[in-house]
Amino acid sequence: MSQYHIKNLEEYFQVYRKSVQHPELFWEEIAEENFVWRKKWDNVLSWDFSKPELKWFEGAKLNITENCLDRHLHVRGDKTAILFEPNDPNEEPEHITYKELHERVCEMANVLKDQGIQKGDRVCIYLPMIPELAISVLACARIGAIHSVVFAGFSAAALATRINDSDCKIVITSDGSFRGNKTIDLKGIVDKALESCSCVETVLVAKRINSEIVMKKGRDFWLAPLLEAAYKDCNAEIMNAEDPLFILYTSGSTGMPKGMVHTTAGYMVYSAYTFKNVFQYSENDVYWCTADIGWITGHSYIVYGPLANGATTVMFEGVPNYPDWGRFWEIVEKHKINQFYTAPTAIRALAKENLSFVEKYDLSSLKVLGTVGEPINEEAWHWYNDNIGKKKSPIVDTWWQTETGGIMISPIPFSTPTIPTFATLPLPGIQPCLMDENGDEITGNQTNGRLCVKFPWPSMARTIWGNHQRYKETYFSTFKDKYFTGDGALRDATGYYRITGRVDDVIIVSGHNLGTAPIEDAINEHPAVAESAIVGFPHEVKGNALYGYVILKEAGEGRDQDNLSKEINQLITERIGPIAKLDKIQFTSGLPKTRSGKIMRRILRKIAGKDTSNLGDTSTLLNPDVVQEIMENAL
Ligand code: PRX
Repeated sequence: MSQYHIKNLEEYFQVYRKSVQHPELFWEEIAEENFVWRKKWDNVLSWDFSKPELKWFEGAKLNITENCLDRHLHVRGDKTAILFEPNDPNEEPEHITYKELHERVCEMANVLKDQGIQKGDRVCIYLPMIPELAISVLACARIGAIHSVVFAGFSAAALATRINDSDCKIVITSDGSFRGNKTIDLKGIVDKALESCSCVETVLVAKRINSEIVMKKGRDFWLAPLLEAAYKDCNAEIMNAEDPLFILYTSGSTGMPKGMVHTTAGYMVYSAYTFKNVFQYSENDVYWCTADIGWITGHSYIVYGPLANGATTVMFEGVPNYPDWGRFWEIVEKHKINQFYTAPTAIRALAKENLSFVEKYDLSSLKVLGTVGEPINEEAWHWYNDNIGKKKSPIVDTWWQTETGGIMISPIPFSTPTIPTFATLPLPGIQPCLMDENGDEITGNQTNGRLCVKFPWPSMARTIWGNHQRYKETYFSTFKDKYFTGDGALRDATGYYRITGRVDDVIIVSGHNLGTAPIEDAINEHPAVAESAIVGFPHEVKGNALYGYVILKEAGEGRDQDNLSKEINQLITERIGPIAKLDKIQFTSGLPKTRSGKIMRRILRKIAGKDTSNLGDTSTLLNPDVVQEIMENAL
């Protein structure tokens, strides 16, 4: 990835300018220099946001697995591609070399073919973070089948909805999964889901926890013997640039989850290019992203982006607090991790614990730290910077979405000066803009608005599976000729972007727009506060008022809550202004979170608004019990 590999701020601006002035030339050069193609494209880009229709590298033919595997075999065949770190720290990690990975992907691809899976068929993958997950993903890509990975924390009902929506023919799962000191009966969940999925003909089962499970005759097959009998080589299916690579579901603000469709060439080029630049990966580095492959972060930055760059990518099966809160740092020390990429919610959870869990380990291998998925609050940013990066490893606060396929706004480490809570500058090729309520673009800096993108980039989702109209309405109808992200952002005097949160989380109080993130930042600065969430509730005079849910650290428990409330409001007044003061503060032991760590504000809004008759779908909550607690103590 030598072309446009950015090494300093000046280079960034040069590359950025070129990417905006000559986008087609820019992407063409990157595509040309860094990938293997069976046939080059006839046309780099054609697009029309009004339809919307997007085509990148039209006419090109390729297979993404040839780029992630085959082409590395002669240069780094014995290098570790996937480093598997099991849930149990006493179980040996597994180093899977590029050669081995190639073989195992080919075997899995042959098993799928034997089961009648062909190019274009949908394959549901419902697996824990074990090597078979990455191997299944790549095996689908090898034969041109479209993978739909469903995070293995989803319930049977959620799984069934996703299987049916995209008509999957086959499910790949395991007998169960380890999660800390617990096991989860994944096969049981699949069995239940399949009671309502007539499209599934076959279930392939990996053995992980050695539990007794029921195998349905004629439908369910153990993977191991099939893999053993399979050929170790499998020709790659030659794909068109715009053939779908995968479907990944993301929840919408209303209705069914949206099956975002990503296509082959553009996704490959963008995920690989951004991986290289955002993490400044170099050949002997060991890179670890703690996400699950069930989310877009895992697709782009555990599997495709790293492997396309010939990287060593760590897959971690476990959780941050098993056997104790030092696990992440133990792994960093053990594998000498160079790039570490995680979510703010994990950072906050870790920051709540005693620092001795960090101090026990040697973290000196770390070079770059990343964060993704939600706005990172200032306190968490500093904790990460001070205690993990020791103020030496730049933090890349990467903003992007399932829909964008890859990182869109992020510092380039060692080039872009970082500021806590700012995702900073758009990556080359990305043309963000801010829009006002009237649908006009806001020019100039020191402003905030709705974050849109006005020019296509290669890894944009192309449609919602089976519902192009919804795709158009959700992303291209709010603002003419713009991709609307659904997020709000502010742009400071230097052009840096700070994501303020989903636009549906922006609360208008007495005619003032208040982002939830800065208020939460202010609250979280209070030494007794671990985490907080703000929502709006209807108010006679102000239109909306603010309701804060606050989790206390151990140090804050037992303190007088009236006094604490006053101190919190004082802090908000100091940091933002009296307008942002909270009308109500409820202290709580937890916040309702999705399994990907996002606070489900919809529920908090309903409770704050005393509208609890129908809380909507809570099936994706990690901690449903906390909802009851919050309802009982609501103010
Ligand atoms: O609101 C933004 C937030 O997460 C949303 C996308 O969520 P998802 O599709 O699940 O993808 C998450 C992983 C890429 C965005 O619309 N978000 C993501 N990254 C950041 C963020 N908010 C603030 N700062 C970020 N770095």
